[in-house]
Amino acid sequence: MSVHDLTGRTALVTGGARGLGLAMAESLARAGATVVIGDVAEDKGRTAAKQLADTGAQTRFVHLDVTDESHWESAVDEIVRDTGRLDILVNNAGVEVTALLVDIAVAELRTMLDINIVGTMLGLKHGLRAMRPGGAAGNGGSIVNIASVAATIAFPGIAGYSGTKSAVDRITRVAAMESGKLGYGVRVNCVYPGLVATAMGQKLAVEEAALGLFPSPEDAVAAVVDQTPLGRLGEPDDIADVVAFLASDAARFMTGAGLSVDGGMGM
Ligand SMILES: NC(=O)c1ccc[n+]([C@@H]2O[C@H](COP(=O)([O-])OP(=O)(O)OC[C@H]3O[C@@H](n4cnc5c(N)ncnc54)[C@H](O)[C@@H]3O)[C@@H](O)[C@H]2O)c1
Repeated sequence: MSVHDLTGRTALVTGGARGLGLAMAESLARAGATVVIGDVAEDKGRTAAKQLADTGAQTRFVHLDVTDESHWESAVDEIVRDTGRLDILVNNAGVEVTALLVDIAVAELRTMLDINIVGTMLGLKHGLRAMRPGGAAGNGGSIVNIASVAATIAFPGIAGYSGTKSAVDRITRVAAMESGKLGYGVRVNCVYPGLVATAMGQKLAVEEAALGLFPSPEDAVAAVVDQTPLGRLGEPDDIADVVAFLASDAARFMTGAGLSVDGGMGM
């Protein structure tokens, strides 16, 4: 059950094979949407889609590397052909590289820029094209980009990552402006999740300690919790339920917004 009703809508969640993306796929499915998980992790993604289908949800998996434009073209074609629609896109796929600025490795940095920024922009390009009037789906819709609390604070060791998420924040506003002004009927918003103990969140804590920024991973987590007025880390559903809200008609007059879902850490 969900407080939102997305019955009859089709959603694509990038990076939906695990972590926050999987929780978003589950939350959208609970609200009645047909959910497509797009990911480079083929086995994990197929298993996640199957497990979701076993709960009664309409789901499928598409192989999607968000940095590859030809993947976007074929994924959108396939989704519209199979489900007749594309109403919701969550640009969630992302990676995080932890490094001090003095040590940052250019190849890793470029890969992260490609996935987090170019991947989000390609999602916007092909999502807006499909959803706008005359597009393959053509019914308008809602796009939610996943930024991070890292776009709103200065946390050591994640300069590159923070930069990519600040870019997602700004790109969201321009996309909302273009979509609104050009009558696409697509709302574009973003969320800034706080730290969640997914694979990415746990890796960050370990690497912060390895860089000597905190005595141990546990101390890194404790520092985050200490900076968080609600006094805990995020849970995947904390983020996923806000994504479902932004995807739903309850957010019908919201576009170009960024919602902090971080227990107050970034205020
Ligand atoms: N976990 C956190 O604390 C946290 C906090 C703020 C923001 N975020 C953001 O939330 C999003 C999800 O994070 P997570 O913690 O679930 O991460 P995760 O590493 O657990 O999962 C990321 C998913 O993205 C997929 N992916 C990676 N590269 C891809 C590509 N090129 N194309 C398609 N899929 C790809 C991975 O296979 C994986 O399934 C990311 O954008 C991340 O930056 C996470």
